[in-house]
Amino acid sequence: MKRFLPVFAVGMLCLGACNLEKPPAKLEFPESKEEAAAPAETAAPAEAPAAEAPADPKLAAGKTVYETKGCNGCHDAGMMGAPKPGDKAAWKDRIAQGVDVMTKKSIDGFTGKGGMMPAKGGNADLTDEEVANAVAYLAEISK
Ligand code: HEC
Repeated sequence: MKRFLPVFAVGMLCLGACNLEKPPAKLEFPESKEEAAAPAETAAPAEAPAAEAPADPKLAAGKTVYETKGCNGCHDAGMMGAPKPGDKAAWKDRIAQGVDVMTKKSIDGFTGKGGMMPAKGGNADLTDEEVANAVAYLAEISK
C-alpha cells in the first residue's frame, strides 16, 4: 500500500493543478449562457399584455360592449341582484343553462330571483350580436 502513496500524492497535485486551470474555463460558460437567456427574458413580458385581452375577437368585442354600453353599471356593483363578473357561484347555474339561453334572456329581458334584467340591459341600440358577445364574455370570465 505504502508504495502507492507517492503516486496518490502526485495524482492529488495534478488534480489540484488541473482544478486551478479549470475555473477560468468554467466561468466562460455561465457568462455565455446568461447572454443567451437575456433575449428570451425580454421577449416574455411582450407576450403578457396580449394574454389579458381575450384572444377570441368576439369575446374582445363583448368586453368592450360590457364596459362601454352600461352593462357594468349594474353588474360590476352587483346592483339590484345582478351577478358580478367573475363571481363563479353567482354564474354557475346561469352558465349551466347554456350561453344561448342566457343570450336570449338578456336580449328579451327577464325577471329572476335576484331582480330584473332589462332587455339588452336597457340599451335598445345594441344589436343582438353585441349582446351575445357581451354575454359570451361574461360567461367566459365567470366560469
Ligand atoms: C339595470 C341593471 C342591469 C343592466 C344595465 C344589465 N343587467 Fe344583466 N342582469 C341584471 C340583473 C338584476 C340580473 C339577474 C336577474 C336574476 O336572475 O334575478 C341580470 C342577469 C344577467 C345575465 C344572466 C342571465 C341568466 O340567464 O341568468 C346576463 C348574461 C346579463 N345580465 C347580461 C347583461 C348584459 C350583456 C348587459 C349589457 C348589455 C346587462 N346584463 C345589463 C341587471 C342588469
